[in-house]
Amino acid sequence: MRKIVLAGNWKMYKTRAESIEFLHGFLPQLTETPEEREIVICAPFTDLSLLSKNLHGTRIMLGAQNVHWAAEGAYTGEISGAMLAELGVRYVVVGHSERRQYFGETDETVNLRLKAAQNFGLIPILCVGETKQQRDAGQTENVIFNQLAIDLVDVDQSRLVIAYEPIWAIGTGDTCESKEANRVIGLIRSKLTNPDVPIQYGGSVKPDNIDEIMAQPEIDGVLVGGASLTPASFGRIVNYQKI
Ligand code: PGA
Repeated sequence: MRKIVLAGNWKMYKTRAESIEFLHGFLPQLTETPEEREIVICAPFTDLSLLSKNLHGTRIMLGAQNVHWAAEGAYTGEISGAMLAELGVRYVVVGHSERRQYFGETDETVNLRLKAAQNFGLIPILCVGETKQQRDAGQTENVIFNQLAIDLVDVDQSRLVIAYEPIWAIGTGDTCESKEANRVIGLIRSKLTNPDVPIQYGGSVKPDNIDEIMAQPEIDGVLVGGASLTPASFGRIVNYQKI
């Protein structure tokens, strides 16, 4: 059985005070949420310690947005898996397109980060996806297969989540058609050795498209940026209706 994982990626939003304010609005919305839905908040590093305390006893899992590959060392500005695990972090986003695009991350470093996350008991959420230009040139499948071929070398597929995030759909309001996302996610699954890896869709997921996205048979959850920032919209997303 594939797990359903509904994750918010707060990116560089929310101070500690704002993160607690969010929880006050969000937690009361989870009373009816079906048990089998895993809910994750991937917060900025500075929020993690406070959130960890405040999520204790709730069903929300804590996630981070990146992890370095070394256990420790002279890597100014980076955070290790041990540091995250100590705070009770369970998930970590790896290879988000914003990291690849603005911070020079490559498939090789993504692979190192994935393995490091798993070494420290974290479940990485690996992001893959194509640019608009690559899609228009008919290269979507190739780009994603190439990413997976390098990213997943020696990665344990029993402790992994993948997010298909077409880059042109991130933060643009231009969601990928749910049937097309379903098709690409099916192709991603065909490249895996473990068919039970949960594969999410990400890119302009909103309260008004979540039901349709989650109705797709290959889609096991979502990675949500902008719409995870307010309790009402993320609440509607985790409480998606089956259609
Ligand atoms: P978005 O971001 O939901 O704001 O499009 C998704 C993501 O970057 O994970």
